[in-house]
Amino acid sequence: ALRGSIALKAQKEYQSYQYHLQPQAAFKVAILGAAGGIGQPLALLIKMSPLVSALHLYDVANVKGVAADLSHCNTPSQVLDFTGASELGSALKGVDVVVIPAGVPRKPGMTRDDLFNINAGIVKNLIEAVADNCPDAFIHIISNPVNSTVPIAAEILKQKGVFDPKKLFGVSTLDVVRANTFVAQKKNLKLIDVDVPVVGGHAGITILPLLSKTKPSVSFTDEEVQELTVRIQNAGTEVVEAKAGTGSATLSMAYAAARFVESSLRALDGDGDVYECSYVQSDLTELPFFASRIKIGKKGVEAFISSDLQGLTEYEQKALEALKPELKSSIEKGIAFANKQA
Ligand code: NAI
Repeated sequence: ALRGSIALKAQKEYQSYQYHLQPQAAFKVAILGAAGGIGQPLALLIKMSPLVSALHLYDVANVKGVAADLSHCNTPSQVLDFTGASELGSALKGVDVVVIPAGVPRKPGMTRDDLFNINAGIVKNLIEAVADNCPDAFIHIISNPVNSTVPIAAEILKQKGVFDPKKLFGVSTLDVVRANTFVAQKKNLKLIDVDVPVVGGHAGITILPLLSKTKPSVSFTDEEVQELTVRIQNAGTEVVEAKAGTGSATLSMAYAAARFVESSLRALDGDGDVYECSYVQSDLTELPFFASRIKIGKKGVEAFISSDLQGLTEYEQKALEALKPELKSSIEKGIAFANKQA
């Protein structure tokens, strides 16, 4: 019950934060890939945060206009733009949280793994600069395939001698946001009350919503479990197909990423009640990286909510075993890429 109420508090605070725009803290946030489909609305949402004093927008092109536009909003943070590799170091100096949505998105018919060849190299280069300029920052990785890009980032940080596993986060918040929305619709619940933990990874069957752990407690038929699980797993593809070649989820992703940034800033600011799901280095299972609910504190991951993985239904237990080989191979692919390049 405590866990449920804490998650709800986080959600309610996030949803009301834009109405309380007195500066409350002075954190610096950088977005790498800030001119993109996710980057722009994410920058807008972070510009509205009362916890941010400076917003550093970095991209390889087109970021000047985005920053000029945003800078006219009369909210506390200062917006600075940085374009191209020569300005990357300055974009990162002194930053508390780095959010990385840089890279190419999916088109219809593509899996997240199809993005590996392009995005792996982008994430590697950006993380090298993070290691050199703000090794203590919280790092939020959005670029897909998250199942592999987070292990790549970990390896690069290790090579640079600055890896802190508590501060490297794969952003899987959108899976939770989707699960909450779909369950509330299906069960006619008040949206703000619903919280579903989503574990595993962030691609296809590795996305495992633990519907039996939904708060408030609600019962599902076997058919509902099957239908909701598959819809949550394929929700990204639903958007890719509806956008018909023009991109993948950007607005809901920006909303989810902004929630995760706000939670991280609240944790950095000393709030002791911050819980989110994230794909992180973990020993909850035999896999080195695993998404689960975590408690976030000033120093990053403070605790893993292992009780979510206890007392699973037979369906969930089977799905958990079934996702492990795919997640394992995505992790190994990332690690091999990072070390081959070294
Ligand atoms: P987009 O193509 O609209 O934007 C990507 C931006 O990254 C562009 O502005 C581009 O100039 C920039 N970029 C490319 N190389 C860069 C580099 N080396 N340094 C800095 N910036 C660079 O793509 P969108 O829709 O914003 O998606 C971005 C990524 O987020 C994709 O990999 C996508 O698969 C992923 N994604 C992740 C989700 C998640 O739940 N974790 C959900 C949705 C998308």
